[in-house]
Amino acid sequence: KNIAIFASGSGSNAENIIRFFQKNDSAQVSLVLSNKSDACVLERAHRLGVPSNVFSKEDWIAGDEILAILQEYHIDFVVLAGFLVRVPDLLLHAYPNKIINIHPALLPKFGGKGMYGDRVHEAVVAAGEKESGITIHYINEHYDEGNTIFQATCPVLPTDSPDDVAKKVHALEYEHFPQVIEQVLRNKY
Ligand code: GRF
Repeated sequence: KNIAIFASGSGSNAENIIRFFQKNDSAQVSLVLSNKSDACVLERAHRLGVPSNVFSKEDWIAGDEILAILQEYHIDFVVLAGFLVRVPDLLLHAYPNKIINIHPALLPKFGGKGMYGDRVHEAVVAAGEKESGITIHYINEHYDEGNTIFQATCPVLPTDSPDDVAKKVHALEYEHFPQVIEQVLRNKY
């Protein structure tokens, strides 16, 4: 099975997933796509020997150039890991129930890119939440509202800063995301 990862930023999750499947031959990350030419994820992909490409905002809206490269690389499954652009309907229809995303909070609370963006941990702390965590879910045309596949939680202490929460949430991402992808590919969900 060939996986493509879409990422807009640092790509620590992308690197973690690539490394996992370099050791686990049930699938492989065959392509990394981004919307930002200076995203660190592109350096990580290059260092790990994974082909990558960057597309413009217009291409991410139209979708046909993206679909063409996914087909060129025989992609079966798409993973969003810190991807801050809406997936075009053309791709949603070409990959039904084959695109998953990770959200660094417990959806449906604190969802919606527009609402919190990358300040989701500030919102969790400000709301006085006792716990936070990750949500791995299918995506649909409404961004963070696809069916939930997996959630894991971490405690939020009254003394925690947003950065403390971010560290705990990232740890959950690194611990769970690759295995959940593998299980979804084996149709365990
Ligand atoms: C992660 O916290 C992920 O949950 C969110 O964006 C962040 C991406 O981090 N969607 P990285 O680029 O994988 O380091």
